[in-house]
Amino acid sequence: MIARSRLAAVLATALLAASSPAWAGDDPAASQVQHYSGVKADYAFRCKGCHGFDGEGTPGHVPRLRGFVGLYTWLPEGRDYLLRVPGAARSRLDDARLAAVLNWVLATYGAGQVAPGFAPFTAEEVGVARRRPLLNQKEVRARLIAEMRAKGLIGEGEDGLGVSPEHRG
Ligand code: HEC
Repeated sequence: MIARSRLAAVLATALLAASSPAWAGDDPAASQVQHYSGVKADYAFRCKGCHGFDGEGTPGHVPRLRGFVGLYTWLPEGRDYLLRVPGAARSRLDDARLAAVLNWVLATYGAGQVAPGFAPFTAEEVGVARRRPLLNQKEVRARLIAEMRAKGLIGEGEDGLGVSPEHRG
């Protein structure tokens, strides 16, 4: 419980400090609706099958993105992990479209949880990162989850693989 209230504090600070409107969330009234519709289609075709329409994941198998993916931005290795995780890096999207999908995923499912100052992904860095495939992603993920716990970003039983609070019951 202590960890949870610390998380709330961390997130509240992040919200206040958030400098980039890019992480403000998926506001349908936003002027970028046109842009988002392409990104949404890419997510729907390439990612949704595993991560769910609502970012809810496949409990026990595929992590939920909603309410979880943003937490990686607080970890030194998190950026590299998000860029190289196989489901994303090996998708059949070109570098620019994958960068856009990853940015959309953070803005939509990580809204309010992205570390202040975390710069949006660029096509160039996606291109470089996906040439270095992540072969031990389970190990890397387990290490990052342990770091999240140590930082109080998540509680003991949380690992992003259970049913999300929004989708329980
Ligand atoms: C075949 C199922 C599958 C597809 C398709 C898929 N993913 Fe994933 N994704 C996973 C699994 C499983 C993990 C957990 C890490 C691992 O074991 O590879 C994951 C992890 C992630 C993570 C890190 C979150 C975490 O908690 O580990 C992100 C971000 C992500 N995927 C984004 C995407 C995006 C963006 C797409 C579409 C371009 C996509 N994924 C397509 C299965 C998939």
